Amino acid sequence: MHFLSGFLLSLPLASLAGHKSRSFGQNHRRAALKARNTTSTYVLEDYYQGQSFLNSSLWTFFDDTDPTAGLVNYQSSSDAQSKGLAYVQDDGTTVLAVDNTTTLTSGQYRDSVRIATTKSYNGGLFIADFYAMPYGCATWPAFWSVGPNWPDQGEIDIIEGVNLNTHNQLTLHSGADCAIESTLSSLVSGNSTIGNLQCASSASSNTGCTYIDNDARSYGQGFNQQGGGVYAMDWNTDAIKMWFFSRDDIPSDITEKSPNPSSWGEPAALFSNSACDIGSHFSEHTLTINTDVCGGWTESAFSSSGCSGTCADTVADPSNFDNARWKINYIATYQS
Ligand SMILES: *[C@@H]1O[C@H](CO)[C@@H](O)[C@H](O)[C@H]1NC(C)=O
Ligand SMILES: *[C@@H]1O[C@H](CO)[C@@H](O)[C@H](O)[C@H]1NC(C)=O
Ligand SMILES: *[C@@H]1O[C@H](CO)[C@@H](O)[C@H](O)[C@H]1NC(C)=O
Ligand SMILES: *[C@@H]1O[C@H](CO)[C@@H](O)[C@H](O)[C@H]1NC(C)=O
Repeated sequence: MHFLSGFLLSLPLASLAGHKSRSFGQNHRRAALKARNTTSTYVLEDYYQGQSFLNSSLWTFFDDTDPTAGLVNYQSSSDAQSKGLAYVQDDGTTVLAVDNTTTLTSGQYRDSVRIATTKSYNGGLFIADFYAMPYGCATWPAFWSVGPNWPDQGEIDIIEGVNLNTHNQLTLHSGADCAIESTLSSLVSGNSTIGNLQCASSASSNTGCTYIDNDARSYGQGFNQQGGGVYAMDWNTDAIKMWFFSRDDIPSDITEKSPNPSSWGEPAALFSNSACDIGSHFSEHTLTINTDVCGGWTESAFSSSGCSGTCADTVADPSNFDNARWKINYIATYQS
């Protein structure tokens, strides 16, 4: 099904391109081969790396009150940089950290960072390469995209979890009439299971539709122990698909900046038009990277995700945040 639709879509273009000199039979075989592996229809649009993440014309630092009620003080760009919470290493890696030097009293807020692109997107292919991601009790890291007028223009959570989770959760939030069809569970990677079918979200019912990737390399300490890896999100009007590749499994077409999702095999998450009109539910998304501290999900899942005591007490001790940092290689966006 997946292969067939890619094949049908690419055939007319390939046929046109070879119209003058090749027979249909040759075109047909070429198209099939191209559709599967050799041709990327995607062209690089943005390549964020190193100082890009600290460039205010490309990414902005959110420093308002946390909408999810965390014990967090999101920092401005200048404060984050002067406090050593956002910087570029000599090797070009961008680090976004939670403060792990300040001792607080229980209930006080800890400094952290939340950045978002100035540019908004209406689809495309998004490739994010991280060497490490935050984990630890009281942390709630996420890499996600979101539109205005939440939930009507949607939210796509590519990496998200809390505390000592050993699995990633991939989620959509949307306005009314959007869900996952349960039959999609047979079209995703063997490590992925559906967690919740309903994407429609509201302030009082905000689970979203979810897949859980049970590959222990997909999140937290397990992710970091492998040197991280790549998350890819392919968003068009037919479907939103997401893949995870641990460091050693990154396809060469990604590294070569000629990505061809049809060659990557089953995704970790698949949301399709069958039960959600993707085109009308998701628009004008900015990309966001943040590490929240306590707040909603972190606290409700505190003991079930491996932590003891209270979240507020955990926040007070800075040594609990030694692993609470993103190490970003790059984020690339592509358009077809
Ligand atoms: C396409 O790529 C997949 C995964 O990389 C590989 O297993 C398969 O043999 C390739 N197919 C062709 C036709 O090259
Ligand atoms: C910030 O990004 C803009 C847009 O790409 C670029 O023109 C500018 O030179 C960058 N600034 C710095 C200091 O690199
Ligand atoms: C599932 O995860 C394990 C590691 O936890 C990995 O070895 C395996 O390749 C994964 N399978 C798929 C289909 O991705
Ligand atoms: C904060 O965390 C970093 C990274 O793990 C570590 O190198 C540093 O020593 C920690 N700071 C303190 C004061 O322990």
